[in-house]
Amino acid sequence: MTARSSFVVVANRMPVDQVITETGREWQRSPGGLVTALHPVLAARGGTWVGWAGGVGDAPEPFEMEGVHLHPVPLTADDLERYYEGQSNATIWPLYHDAVETPTYRRRWREAYREVNARFAAAADEVSAHGATVWVQDYQLQLVPAMLRERRPDLKIGFFLHIPFPPIELFMQMPQRAEILHGLLGADLVGFQQRLAAQNFVRLARHLLGLRYSGHVIKVEDRQVKSRAFPISIDTTEMEQLAASPTVQARAKQIRAELGDPATVVLGVDRLDYTKGIELRLKAFRELLAEGRMAVPDTVMVQVATPSRERVEHYQTLRLRVEQEVGRINGDFGRVGMPAVHYLHQSYNRTELAALYVAADVMMVTPLRDGMNLVAKEYVAARGDSGGALLLSEFAGAASEMRQAFLVNPYDPEAVKEVLLKAATVEPAEARRRMRTMQRQLRTYDVNRWAHSFLNELGE
Ligand code: ADP
Ligand code: F6P
Repeated sequence: MTARSSFVVVANRMPVDQVITETGREWQRSPGGLVTALHPVLAARGGTWVGWAGGVGDAPEPFEMEGVHLHPVPLTADDLERYYEGQSNATIWPLYHDAVETPTYRRRWREAYREVNARFAAAADEVSAHGATVWVQDYQLQLVPAMLRERRPDLKIGFFLHIPFPPIELFMQMPQRAEILHGLLGADLVGFQQRLAAQNFVRLARHLLGLRYSGHVIKVEDRQVKSRAFPISIDTTEMEQLAASPTVQARAKQIRAELGDPATVVLGVDRLDYTKGIELRLKAFRELLAEGRMAVPDTVMVQVATPSRERVEHYQTLRLRVEQEVGRINGDFGRVGMPAVHYLHQSYNRTELAALYVAADVMMVTPLRDGMNLVAKEYVAARGDSGGALLLSEFAGAASEMRQAFLVNPYDPEAVKEVLLKAATVEPAEARRRMRTMQRQLRTYDVNRWAHSFLNELGE
């Protein structure tokens, strides 16, 4: 019989990765902030994490790791295509990100989304003790709160959306709109990254379902559903310590040397996603080189673009466009052994990422829309020397908190170029002042605080 827990997290992905070692396959805790924040809460209460273990076919048997129960949910190849790649990442993802790419609507994807959400809800039911708290994460599982409440009215249910929540006009496009809204309203507390998103949600409940609300509380039959903002953050101490470690400091120096010791290193680190504004960043750099306002090898750019959702068409075409632009810049401005853009379509470990942050003079974070953007926060936390400059899109959730960044409208190419030049030539004293203010903020508002404020509001 499955052990039942008083605290359960339900997320599309499990917090562990399968790695191949000398002795065979092994699970390792994945390094993300969400896992770091929730691990102590889960471990203290013998909690359970319900999620997809990656891969298709039979799921591994439930197992335990570092005091946390892990309860894998299986996905078939068909689920992967229709629920994950289709409805989650070709319909909901673009729609919720201001439709920067056109969302695709398919009936068979919606059916799969419903079926897989029901599977997650059944798994959460199976592992939850009477009166347990269940915290559902993100846009892949928006139907789970109502499905779970239907099965288990005794549970306390929270939901957090990690990505933006769209304005009413855009949300209304979605054929499954009422079902999704009902799904979310199954929670007692719905959390968003931004205050505006939480307000949109409340207004949408009235607009679409005629529900009454007062402030941030929506009345749903005999229940109350709260809608509030909880901007997510990072494990600030962990990043500060990692970046200050001798290994990372030495590697950062080595990276700069390998790049030819340029005066300015410009860095981008993103999943290869069309919301991240990678192309506009490359274009700004190309134009500055063409106008002679920046020059190689004085300035070099490093763009890490982690492979992501590679079977989804929008991602395939984005990759072609980005790689064409990188090729064009290097063709026009590179020299033998001295490319203008070092493009890395790879995943890295935390140590290498931290070393890149320490090595970079300007970090370019230019999404067209982003729920938060943790890379921006990681860069600031990594700069214990208070050097470096963060160029940040106004359309990243992080911009609401990081007002001392070099903020820019990513839709304005001339502005991106001007701000890039400004960030690259900022006086060290001003750079330090900006960095320190942002670092103070990050030390207070870290991911622990995020998790605890959500759980407090939920009544934990
Ligand atoms: P998103 O959730 O949309 O991918 P975020 O910036 O919020 O964007 O979070 C991305 C996370 O993935 C960060 O914690 C970052 O350190 C990590 N990451 C980004 N690129 C890489 C990479 N190439 N290798 C390993 N981790 C990466
Ligand atoms: O932050 C949004 C998000 O989709 C998370 O839910 C997810 O873990 C991450 O980005 C990476 O995406 P994926 O799980 O599709 O690889």
